[in-house]
Amino acid sequence: PRALRVREALRVPEPVERVKVQGWVRSVRSQKEVLFLHVNDGSSLESLQIVADPSLENRDLTFGSAVEVQGKLVKSPHKMQNMELKAETIRVVGPCNALLFPLKTRERHPLEYVRQFPHLRCRNNTLGSLLRIRSEATASIHSFFQDNGYVHIHTPIITSNDCEGAGELFQIGVSNEAKDSAEKTHFFNVPAFLTVSGQLHLEVMAGAFTHVFTFGPTFRAENSQSRRHLAEFYMVEAELSFTESLQDIMQVMEDLLKTVTSTVLSKCPRDVELFQKYIAPAQKGRLEQMLKNKFVTISYSEAMEILKQASQAFTFKPEWGCDLQTEHEKYLVEHCGEVPVFVINYPYDLKPFYMRDNEDGPQHTVAAVDLLVPGVGELCGGSLREERLPFLESRLQRLGLTDTYQWYLDLRKFGSVPHGGFGMGFERYLQYILGVDNIKDVIPFPRFSHSCLL
Ligand code: 4AD
Ligand code: MG
Repeated sequence: PRALRVREALRVPEPVERVKVQGWVRSVRSQKEVLFLHVNDGSSLESLQIVADPSLENRDLTFGSAVEVQGKLVKSPHKMQNMELKAETIRVVGPCNALLFPLKTRERHPLEYVRQFPHLRCRNNTLGSLLRIRSEATASIHSFFQDNGYVHIHTPIITSNDCEGAGELFQIGVSNEAKDSAEKTHFFNVPAFLTVSGQLHLEVMAGAFTHVFTFGPTFRAENSQSRRHLAEFYMVEAELSFTESLQDIMQVMEDLLKTVTSTVLSKCPRDVELFQKYIAPAQKGRLEQMLKNKFVTISYSEAMEILKQASQAFTFKPEWGCDLQTEHEKYLVEHCGEVPVFVINYPYDLKPFYMRDNEDGPQHTVAAVDLLVPGVGELCGGSLREERLPFLESRLQRLGLTDTYQWYLDLRKFGSVPHGGFGMGFERYLQYILGVDNIKDVIPFPRFSHSCLL
């Protein structure tokens, strides 16, 4: 027999005499004359209907069990599906104890409920759709950059630097090997951390390949229980040499967001529809709208003016020089019409050492940009980088970081060029396009403060 995935089986144009399908049972309905099964193998949201003689029923054939079905693929008389499988044999590969299995047939479990079972929740429709979309978006991000001439770089996970300078580093501890030896601490006796961003390594590479990107796990020791922070999350980062304007960086951010979103919409229509039906009905039509319009841009100073007009609405009073709080981001996005908003030129003192000095004043700013989106707030952060040796030297000196960043200063001595880049939080991107409230529901195995299940 020809082995077919469920997705293929549902789409073959003509009947097939002998096929084999494997998967997990999503429903069993036994009638006097006929036994109906639905089998799902993760290749699509839809399950394949199996029609069998009741004599093939067996007590191990329950919701959740793994099966292999052989038979004939025929046109289905039902409008909802193209093909169904007339079973000749049904073999239970792995039974499932229905009493102990936490997922229940035909129930739409709340996301908070299935979150308790990180090893089983992928058998649920919502997580199934989410993970297929996540996979498609990942592929699309890689194609977007590869198609536009960027070189992909594997930036390291273990590093000695704190790119964001925010002190949110996880330090690497004692290794099992070193436990009893003299090299007791850190990473073979040298300090080492899990990376918070691949940016500095990308800057190295942009100095040779011009346009580079990376897409990997990043780590932040943020002790926060918020619905948009994880301790381990995926970040897409790009770095572009020979770039003098922040607008160029913003254009790449906008193109990336639009290209990946339209690919997801066209490649996973049924999976996206599930979210629009059950999770975030208000999302319907919003993304199509986003794809059509140019993103809005305002400066940080303009943002402050807008916020001050509505000062009484906030717990944290907006003042020039303060960081934008979640409530401020939400207000700005609303004010601009629930569309993505670029905020540019942030106060010098708010931002990390690598951002390019705008040399303005008295309200001193750097060439930074954050992209805020509806429902999420900050989705991307980027900037022009300080490529001028004297500026960088004096800033590092004031921060006491000159020794640490000798190599970074070197880059400004050996063929320095104006450059810039950005990072996009991949989980926040998925939250945005799907309208998912909690970031823990858009990553297969969430890690956050005080929680590392599995
Ligand atoms: O704004 P961030 O900290 O920027 C950087 O790390 C830059 N070095 C990137 C660059 O220019 N190459 O982080 C970038 C994005 C944020 O806008 C946010 O979407 C996401 O990463 N992010 C988080 N996502 C989930 N959980 C967290 N704890 C996050 N912290 C940041
Ligand atoms: Mg940021």
